[in-house]
This record gives sequence, structure tokens and C-alpha cells, in this order.
Amino acid sequence: MQSTQHLIPTARQLAFQDWEFGLFLHFGLRTFYEGYHDFDERKMEPSTFLPSQLDCEQWIRTAKEAGMNYAVLTAKHHDGFSNWPTRYSTFSVAGSPWKEGKGDVVREFVDACRKYDMKPGLYYSPFDGSANFYNQDAKAYDDYFVNQITELLSAYGEIDILWFDGCGSEEHEYDWKRIIGEIRRLQPGILIFNMGDPDFRWVGNEDGIAPIPCWNVADSTEFSILTEKLEQLEGQLWLPAECDVQLRANWFYSDNDEHLIKSKDELMGLYELSIGRGANLLLNIGPDREGRLPAKDIARLLEFGAEIRSQFGSPIATLEACVRENDTWIYEPQESHLLDCIILQEDLSNGEHIRHFKITIISHKSKRPVTLYEGQNIGHKAIIRIPAVQVSGVHIEITQRDGEVSLRNLSFHHTAKKGG
Ligand code: GLC
Repeated sequence: MQSTQHLIPTARQLAFQDWEFGLFLHFGLRTFYEGYHDFDERKMEPSTFLPSQLDCEQWIRTAKEAGMNYAVLTAKHHDGFSNWPTRYSTFSVAGSPWKEGKGDVVREFVDACRKYDMKPGLYYSPFDGSANFYNQDAKAYDDYFVNQITELLSAYGEIDILWFDGCGSEEHEYDWKRIIGEIRRLQPGILIFNMGDPDFRWVGNEDGIAPIPCWNVADSTEFSILTEKLEQLEGQLWLPAECDVQLRANWFYSDNDEHLIKSKDELMGLYELSIGRGANLLLNIGPDREGRLPAKDIARLLEFGAEIRSQFGSPIATLEACVRENDTWIYEPQESHLLDCIILQEDLSNGEHIRHFKITIISHKSKRPVTLYEGQNIGHKAIIRIPAVQVSGVHIEITQRDGEVSLRNLSFHHTAKKGG
């Protein structure tokens, strides 16, 4: 929808990129129907929605402890069940026995986020299987869409993210001009995911993996998992990528996939393949039928968070220890040491300008320069692994750029040191 080129991030986009790591929460009526799949024909009744121990504080406390900075809850998924007492449908928490129809999951979620200083985001599925007019009357559906979004963006204070899932909407025309206008009017600071007038984009898979290079400027977005069709944007836009991925094998809770919880090793791999390639990582857990995160998922998430801190939390040296000469950052430690990981961050406030860089070490014994790594984008963050090597120095050289460049941070690590 934007007609001009927009190659520099807004302050909100920069903030979003700094949040890096978030919790995706798929929860709703569907949680209570084992094996229910997207666009399932099975009829679901609000009377079955009864999360007897709903504990949003437990969700958010856990996310915080794991080092996450934002959380995105399904306010409404494809089935159309609203997790808040919407006035525009009877297919909602208000028609359930939970809290005698007086409960509001969105409210409890946002309150918990405020309590733990977590940025709240709401997933809202544009496709709605409960609205029989979705296909028949696009205008009536736009009214419903705007009405529901207005409720969500008026009654709960500041919402940081509105997450639009394209799935199911492949053939549908929405009046985006109207919808986006309302969203921006109600919440000028909100970040919109992937549709309408996006502020950040889907990475293009649900595996938690960003490609190399993963540039921040894009001229198209990938639409959904159901199509390979690209959505062309009007011009080039600053649109950081986000990787969404499941901790288990389903978005919603299931009794049958606990054994598929990803291992700490795999999660560390995904961390490096997403955040380590300049994207954000949105990791999903489905709260269970009591309304709580399952114990094993919590344990794994906390283990993951602890491993991130242990590997990257105490660098041997940072940017302050380097001297800049033209486009090269030179590091000369007083004593040589083992090195197996370098983390780089480009200062993106004026756009992304580093196009190619090279890492050369000064060898320990012969004091010779040896190039060990070449890369393209650094972007928000590049986590670079090299085989452990004894170094007397390191040179980070920007070998290709298209403007003034600056590193915002840089750190040297020996992550395998715990093993001796
Ligand atoms: C896909 C799925 C949907 C899920 C979403 C999460 O679009 O169809 O169920 O909510 O991915 O990213």
C-alpha cells in the first residue's frame, strides 16, 4: 500500500528487532478438540471451552525467564472463536461456561504482559470459518473485521503487534485501505505482520530458519504456507523477517506430540539460524486444556533460555576492545585465546549498508593473517561460528558497502569452554 521506497527502519521497527525472541501462544476453543486441524469441518461448541486453571501469568512469567521479550496470543484463529467477549459474534468465550461466560482471555493475557514487562501481540486470523458471510459478502465481512479489530485495539491499552496470518485468505479481497486506516488511527505505534501494510514479514517457512542472506529490505512477501505466490509490495520496504516455529509438532495443544518437543540442541540450532541471521524468533507453545503451559514445555523452554545465556551471555571481549581503521575493526587481546564464535550487529538506524564482510584472524604462533569467514549481511545480528582457534588478533573488514557503515556491537566468545 505504500507508494514510496522506505529503506530506513522506523523507531518501532528497530525496537521490534531488538526484542528478538518471542512466545507464540495458540489457544482457543480448538484446544479442547484433540486432532482438530485448520479448516476442519467438525463442529465446535463454545460450551466445551472450560480452561479450569487458566494462568496467563504462568505463560508470561515463563517467557520472561527464558529471555523472551514479546508474546503473541491467538485472539481469534481460523475457526473464528473469539477469545474475548466480542459483541459481533456469539462464537466466543461469552458463550462458554468458563467464568460463567464473563471471562476474557485477551484481558488476562494483556494484564500478565503488563505485569512482567512483556510486549503483548495479538494474532487475528483474517479468514474466519464461523462467519458464513465471509465468502458471500466481502463488505459485510470487512465491517465485522473492522468491528472486531476496533474492540481489540480499544479496550486493552497499547498492543504492540497485530499478527495477520494469510492462511485461508489466499483468494479473498479485503478492504485494506479501510482496515489499515482504522488500525493506525487506533494504535499508531502498532506493528503489523505480513498483510495490508506490513511492518515486518514472514520468513517464508515454519521451520524457524532464515536464509542467507536475509536482508531487511524487501520488495515482496511470502503469503502463507498454502501458496508459493509472492505478494508484490509497491516498491522496496524495510521489513524485518520473523521466523515462527513450533516447540512440538502442532500449533495448538495436543495429547499426542509431547515426545516431539524439540531438543535443546535443535533449539540452539534454530536460535542461530533465525536470530543469528538477523531475524526474530517466535517460538510456539500451545497452552493445555487447563489453560497452562505443560510442564515439559516449560522445562525445555527454560533449559533453552539458560543455554542461550550460558553460550552468549559472557563474551571475552566486545566492541570497546576494538580499534576501527577505515572499514576494519581490529582486535588485539593482551593474551591470545581460543575463539569459536563472533557476534556482529550493524547499526541499522540509517538503513542496512554492509553487503559483504570478512573475518581474518591473526594466528597464534606465526602471527600471520588467515581469513576464516566471509559473509554478506550482518543486519540486526549475525552469530558466526568458526572452529575453535587460538587467536592473537581478529580483523573484521567490511569489504563491500553501499553507504556509511557502523557496527553497533561486536563480541568474541569461546562457547565450548564449558567442556574444557
Ligand atoms: C499457519 C497455520 C495456522 C497457524 C499459523 C501460525 O498459517 O495454518 O494454523 O496459526 O501458521 O503461523
